[in-house]
Amino acid sequence: MRVAVVGAGPAGIYIAAALVDQTDVPTSVDIFDRLPTPFGLLRYGVAPDHLKMKALGVTLQRTLDHEHVRFFGNVTVGVEVTVDELLADYHAVVYSYGAATDRRLGIPGEGLRGSLSAREFVNWYCDEPDASIGGFDLSAHSAAVIGLGNVALDAARILIRDPEEMSPTDVSDAVLNALRASPITDVHIVGRRGPEHAKFTTKELRELGELDGVDVVVDPSALDGIGEIDDTVVRRNVEVFRGWSQRSLTRAPRRVHLHFHSRPVAVLGTESVEGLRVERPDGSTEDIEAQLVLRSAGYTGVALEGLPFDEESGTLAVVDHRVQRESGEPGEYACGWIKRGATGVIGTNRSDATATVKVIVADAETLLHRPVEPGSALGAAVARGAHPVGLDGWAAIDAAEVALGAGRNSPRIKLSRWEELLAASGVLAVGHLEDIDGAGDDEAES
Ligand SMILES: Cc1cc2nc3c(=O)[nH]c(=O)nc-3n(C[C@H](O)[C@H](O)[C@H](O)COP(=O)(O)OP(=O)(O)OC[C@H]3O[C@@H](n4cnc5c(N)ncnc54)[C@H](O)[C@@H]3O)c2cc1C
Ligand SMILES: NC(=O)c1ccc[n+]([C@@H]2O[C@H](COP(=O)([O-])OP(=O)(O)OC[C@H]3O[C@@H](n4cnc5c(N)ncnc54)[C@H](OP(=O)(O)O)[C@@H]3O)[C@@H](O)[C@H]2O)c1
Repeated sequence: MRVAVVGAGPAGIYIAAALVDQTDVPTSVDIFDRLPTPFGLLRYGVAPDHLKMKALGVTLQRTLDHEHVRFFGNVTVGVEVTVDELLADYHAVVYSYGAATDRRLGIPGEGLRGSLSAREFVNWYCDEPDASIGGFDLSAHSAAVIGLGNVALDAARILIRDPEEMSPTDVSDAVLNALRASPITDVHIVGRRGPEHAKFTTKELRELGELDGVDVVVDPSALDGIGEIDDTVVRRNVEVFRGWSQRSLTRAPRRVHLHFHSRPVAVLGTESVEGLRVERPDGSTEDIEAQLVLRSAGYTGVALEGLPFDEESGTLAVVDHRVQRESGEPGEYACGWIKRGATGVIGTNRSDATATVKVIVADAETLLHRPVEPGSALGAAVARGAHPVGLDGWAAIDAAEVALGAGRNSPRIKLSRWEELLAASGVLAVGHLEDIDGAGDDEAES
């Protein structure tokens, strides 16, 4: 059986692993990704200072190296190859293309300069090639991060932690130097609900209180009236908040302030951000001083032309892992954030992939009756001007990044620009750089 996977993030790679590990139906898998590099949010989401988690790439790589798995990076499905072309080439297609955008709050001032999503900040500090084009303005003294999830914690921690601690990570020199130059002293984490409703995981929450040179400020009254808590994570989180609220401040040079029961109602300012107005349950308002506001209200998926999409949930329309087409024909499946919505840690995608592959294998007899034309989809992509980056190209990028890392005592330093990634991969020689979005003529000539 030939299967195409759209998206080489954790979900897509776990799908490939589960397909080649099962023995009922011998299967070969081709994984397509719009980026020249695999691993999705493991590479461009997981915080650089979480080195242990980043090392999961070694495990995912083993699947890419499997003899029945191929990787085609730098190929955008929906642009260089269509869904119908994939269906004509493969017995089954699995969509695992993640949640590419973020939720907006719909409050006044959201469009001001300095009001951005945590996703944009994450993409920048993770050196995502589209994000690194414009850089990131870190001239704020005070920032507000809206949301009580783990992404908000990541964003707050990267903003406030001693930038020298980021040196042994994979961030580019451009990111490291921008963090070093930032005058930021205060980060406000702002949640519309109480401490017992925060979605943080306790390990990540505790980390915030362990940062050198940083005090965590919690108003003890925010914890009033919280009774018995059954949920272990919530109980532990509340214990952490309580501990912080009782801790005396150390006059550290930098601070993280936690604001609960504070619903954002407006981003303040005329051209650029000057503050964030929040409303309390009693209707009173408070203005938090900030020159940078990052909304961290969750990621959401985008539609792919030709596929049934549920705008409300930001996910593909899927029942029992099968994409719901009017024809009812099996052949299309989904896994990961584009199916479940943008929640869950990397491991969640592994069990999701196992369950999805069970359904694919159960459908295999019908799938194998579909006539397919092997190689036609890749041929169509190349005819449209795609320059796929295969496993060798990714290996060359990997080697270049690891070599760069040696200079800064880090496991790797990411190449952050499209032209650097593609040149390292070998798919484009210098002189072809004008083909690439974002590469100016001057750069092409140099
Ligand atoms: C900021 C952040 C930090 C996180 N940190 C952690 C953490 O520390 N630990 C943890 O366990 N979990 C963490 N998570 C959660 C984890 O990253 C997700 O559970 C996981 O990445 C979801 O996997 P996925 O494969 O569904 O999506 P993704 O990882 O987003 O992968 C989707 C892939 O599809 C590709 N793609 C998109 N559109 C197309 C297209 N049209 N054609 C071809 N390819 C396409 C993308 O380039 C990407 O490679 C974090 C999430 C975020 C947002
Ligand atoms: N280290 C890690 O393990 C790690 C790191 C990062 C991410 N992740 C995982 O990735 C997933 C996504 O994380 P996430 O932080 O993006 O999402 P999340 O956990 O769903 O948190 C989103 C936060 O945004 C708030 N929010 C939503 N709409 C809002 C609005 N209109 N106004 C104010 N606040 C609003 C939510 O509050 P309400 O609850 O009130 O709606 C919630 O606090 C999670 O499963 C997370 O655990 C894991």
